[in-house]
Amino acid sequence: MSGFNIERLSEFTAGVMQFISFVFVVIVFAGLVLLIYFYIADVTQTKQAIRRNYPVIGRFRYFFEHIGEFFRQYFFALDREELPFNRAQRAWVYRAAKDVDATVAFGSTRPLNQPGEILFLNCLFPTLTEDAIPAANVTIGQGVARHPYTTSSLFNISGMSFGALSIPAITALSKGAKKAGIWMNTGEGALSEFHLEGGCDIVYQIGTAKYGVRNAQGELCDIELAKVAAHPQVKMFEIKMSQGAKPGKGGILPGEKVTAIIAKTRNIPEGVDSISPNGHPEISSVDDLLDMIHRVREATGKPVGFKVVIGTSGWLDDLCKAIHQRGVESAPDFITIDSADGGTGAAPQSLIDFMGQPIKRSLPLVVDKLMDYNLRGRIKIICSGKLINPSDVAWALCMGADFVTSARGFMFALGCIQALQCNKNTCPTGITTHDEGLQKGLDIEDKGERVHQFANKMMYEVGMIAHSCGVTQARQLSREHTQIINEQGIPMEMLDLYPIHKSIDEYADINYGLGEDVSAEHGGRV
Ligand SMILES: Cc1cc2nc3c(=O)[nH]c(=O)nc-3n(C[C@H](O)[C@H](O)[C@H](O)COP(=O)(O)O)c2cc1C
Repeated sequence: MSGFNIERLSEFTAGVMQFISFVFVVIVFAGLVLLIYFYIADVTQTKQAIRRNYPVIGRFRYFFEHIGEFFRQYFFALDREELPFNRAQRAWVYRAAKDVDATVAFGSTRPLNQPGEILFLNCLFPTLTEDAIPAANVTIGQGVARHPYTTSSLFNISGMSFGALSIPAITALSKGAKKAGIWMNTGEGALSEFHLEGGCDIVYQIGTAKYGVRNAQGELCDIELAKVAAHPQVKMFEIKMSQGAKPGKGGILPGEKVTAIIAKTRNIPEGVDSISPNGHPEISSVDDLLDMIHRVREATGKPVGFKVVIGTSGWLDDLCKAIHQRGVESAPDFITIDSADGGTGAAPQSLIDFMGQPIKRSLPLVVDKLMDYNLRGRIKIICSGKLINPSDVAWALCMGADFVTSARGFMFALGCIQALQCNKNTCPTGITTHDEGLQKGLDIEDKGERVHQFANKMMYEVGMIAHSCGVTQARQLSREHTQIINEQGIPMEMLDLYPIHKSIDEYADINYGLGEDVSAEHGGRV
């Protein structure tokens, strides 16, 4: 019996070995055929010199180039080397979003002699925890809009369109924003049910294509505007004049990302590239801009402002003068200043790399200009551009911003790994792709909670900086609390570089009569 079993077993083993040998031969043969195919394909193609000169092996170059994007950050880049965001910046966001210990050990890895870097000036007598108060409320559109918007939230979600972002990403942002008590900007891709799902406050962005608020001819439509404004969650309207990553270029949504639901939301054909005009055809002067602001505010009853990246700045004088001619109520209720190094779903490299001024320069420029014309109290300032850590947000408040917004900071909170694939529908974290297979990785509840925790931790740590500087709340931070490192590597007073402006005599005595102005007290808001 046992002899029989051994015989059967050895027969079986021999059979298995034979099968494995057969599979091996087939694989080797198939591999050889593939190599020959690659070889012939490479030497006969004319598009890539490397493949033509180094058939088969040359293919590795393209493979490594592709995966290098993902792996460089893990093996080669130092903490402060990666771009656009280095590991130190991102690690803070990841830790904040996960609500894990955000302390670091041993000492700072940040060099304190790099020109342009900033420092905060701590006070001998920091604000005691029991004396600290929450960030003050700010009202936008007070005395002008039928429904002004009051909020205390310092740090909010910047515009990212439904299209650039996936359904789960938008939904998680909406839920997280609601929990954190912050607003979410729709970006130029119109308002969808997913923005509304979490119940957060919403800023509706009107892009150059007027997605969601246009008539059949593609023109801005007051009836559609009123319909959007009827959502109580929609608190403000932002006219997008330009965006840091691509001033003078309209939104670009590749056809593969224009799914049926996105096409329906935007009212455009499915599967076809969605390219909005590179400017608003009806706005070609500051007067046109003020007309448009007035029109949208009348149609919606909500505060209206515009988003811009500052390039040339002479138009700011023209705008302020035009506002004074018309009356201060004609002013935009807010201006959103985006940095030249702002992000995008897709943009040409020549614009992304070379166009516009960075927020370090443009924020004080706009604040000071509004001070010159005594409009700083009337027009609130929102700013964005790589402000994803508490020191960045505190700096912006010191320079005079009322609010900071971030796009990519919240993408990191959603789990973005900076794979730089937003324009390809292949985002490995499901944030900027409409591939349902990839979206599966993004758990809405978990990531919504991370968005909430990131915003909370941000506001907490900005408060911590304020208390260390000796003020009781973040909106009391001002230029006197910060220094900037000069060319010689020596810190100098920010107030020496950017002194607080006094209004030009001609405009100094204007009293808005538009109600109490909380934000006009501190931080370049004097
Ligand atoms: C994926 C993505 C999509 C964006 N879509 C818009 C948009 O629709 N409208 C807009 O004004 N800005 C858009 N932006 C720019 C951001 O709103 C923001 O101004 C810019 O990225 C700077 O903020 P950040 O440095 O925190 O990302 C987008 C940015 C990203 C990364």
